[in-house]
Amino acid sequence: MSALKAYLKKQQVLVDDALNKFLPRVTVRPKTVHQGMRYSIFAGGKRLRPILTLAAAEACGGEIENALPPACSVEIMHTYSLVHDDLPSMDDDDLRRGRPTSHKVYGEGMAILIGDALLTEAFTVLAHTPPTQRYTLKDILLEFSECGGSKKLIGGQVLDLEGEGKDLTRAQLVRIHENKTAALLTTSLRLGGMTANATVRQLDALTTFGYNLGLAFQVIDDILDVTQSTEQLGKTAGKDQAVDKATYPAILGLDKSKKEAARLTKKALSSLEIFGKKAQHLEAIAHYLLDREF
Ligand code: IPE
Ligand code: IPE
Ligand code: MG
Ligand code: MG
Ligand code: MG
Repeated sequence: MSALKAYLKKQQVLVDDALNKFLPRVTVRPKTVHQGMRYSIFAGGKRLRPILTLAAAEACGGEIENALPPACSVEIMHTYSLVHDDLPSMDDDDLRRGRPTSHKVYGEGMAILIGDALLTEAFTVLAHTPPTQRYTLKDILLEFSECGGSKKLIGGQVLDLEGEGKDLTRAQLVRIHENKTAALLTTSLRLGGMTANATVRQLDALTTFGYNLGLAFQVIDDILDVTQSTEQLGKTAGKDQAVDKATYPAILGLDKSKKEAARLTKKALSSLEIFGKKAQHLEAIAHYLLDREF
């Protein structure tokens, strides 16, 4: 196993253990919703966002332990966004993380509630974050709520839905990606930095890194939808074209999209210089994401 693979595995276990501790048990009533929350959370998933939170804390010289609550919060918010993204009235997907989607198992009404419950739980978990000298719990809360709100993650999903079947410009597509994807990656990193009492300069560097990495991440997600199989992705391949989504491959073609992902990754990497060796994991993650196959 490569050093990075071993590192990712180790961080995944840390995150999964913490998620298991934070989330309500399946025996808590009403059981359906708690089972459903765990069904989607523990279906697998790369755990990219929480791993970024932990790696950002490390880059800023912080303790992993303090970064675990926000790491879990960003994964829980991400999972809620997937449960709702897959609903028949949104992307209408049957498969997620290699399993039938939440609404396929629990029904549509229940999947909406499971998503709502996950989003709410994300804030409960976040409340366990220890404040630092520079960042109060209020700063941490506002960082998270603004990221998930109507101006960012939800706003991006709104633009994504409204863009279906339309010829969007590249600038319009970038706006969608900035909000539906890059915002949460950026906040994942910033929250890690905040738990490590990051300086303004460090937080700015993490923001620039997250923005470019997040854009690259969604370009690659769009590319993989075209190039990979359903089995490999654990979600239905070819879905974007089937519903005429505005994507990079649709607008620029595959070759130019791949070049764009590489350009954005390079830009992201250049913002890590100020951290020196402490950013080695962030660097390795950025390289790995560019070459990922799912
Ligand atoms: C999928 O995210 C949704 C996008 C923003 C592209 P991931 O590719 O990180 O999904 P999981 O968490 O590994 O399932
Ligand atoms: C989803 O983007 C972004 C979210 C905020 C959930 P996609 O719709 O491209 O994600 P997948 O391809 O279904 O994972
Ligand atoms: Mg979508
Ligand atoms: Mg989707
Ligand atoms: Mg996609």
